[in-house]
Amino acid sequence: MNLDETQRAAQAQFDRQATRYGSSHILNDVSDVENALRGLDVSALNPALDVATGGGHTAAFLAGLGLEVTASDVSPAMLRQAEGLASERGLKIRTAGHTAEELPHADGAFGLVTCRVAPHHFSSIPGFVGEAFRVLRPGGWLMVIDGVAPDNAPDAEEWIHRVEKLRDPSHGRFLTPKQWRSTVTEAGFEVHRCDCTPFKQPDVEWYFRTADTSEAHRAQVLELIENAPEEARRVFRLGREDGRIVWWWPRMTLLARRPEVAKAAPKT
Ligand SMILES: C[S@@+](CC[C@H](N)C(=O)[O-])C[C@H]1O[C@@H](n2cnc3c(N)ncnc32)[C@H](O)[C@@H]1O
Repeated sequence: MNLDETQRAAQAQFDRQATRYGSSHILNDVSDVENALRGLDVSALNPALDVATGGGHTAAFLAGLGLEVTASDVSPAMLRQAEGLASERGLKIRTAGHTAEELPHADGAFGLVTCRVAPHHFSSIPGFVGEAFRVLRPGGWLMVIDGVAPDNAPDAEEWIHRVEKLRDPSHGRFLTPKQWRSTVTEAGFEVHRCDCTPFKQPDVEWYFRTADTSEAHRAQVLELIENAPEEARRVFRLGREDGRIVWWWPRMTLLARRPEVAKAAPKT
């Protein structure tokens, strides 16, 4: 794999932290994926590609539906973790080590591409979306679930960007829902759903432990929380429960389809 600086940072970070992403991790709750795919004809989604599979929670869920799943990730340790989770559950998945920005799969090879809680690490989200379009057959579906920055709230957007970068240096950027819609539409997809729900994050200590944040950066994040702008306090519902800092992050579910028939190029 040829990796750019951002991809290398993500690989190093997740190789180091892989064992934290087992079945006790909050990502083990896949009700968000279940909800996103509800109503789709599962038999028409085969085979499926789960990009940036992490601990394999989404991939294992898809395999449990009876889909043939390729679980891919830039981090070899995460792929081992995903394999372990699938075999613990008596499920079969295929793993593939590659980046999200360059998918080494044939055009139209998949009926479903999923990517959950990962694009904010990518060096190019448009690159990933363009590749997802290419590897989906006409009529295939793209499902993305990820944290987002709020639309039309620049102070909150800048604040969460600084907080996340300090906590986890492999963080790239949270797009806003509007940016997601336009990125996906420009790649040729039809957006069927793009909505956000507030997701209560575990307390801040958990959040630091997951990324193994350095002491110096922890102190800076706590200071940013203490002095958060009003807009960030409102958007992220910053507060305290039993002395612990709690917050809610907007999590986006996006479901888009590669049209059955390619759109005609505009007449010149
Ligand atoms: C939080 S985990 C993903 C969780 C998982 N999708 C799930 O549903 O449980 C983020 C993953 O993104 C991967 N990742 C980050 N940047 C990547 C990139 N550019 N290409 C492929 N994988 C990447 C990391 O290695 C890590 O395993």
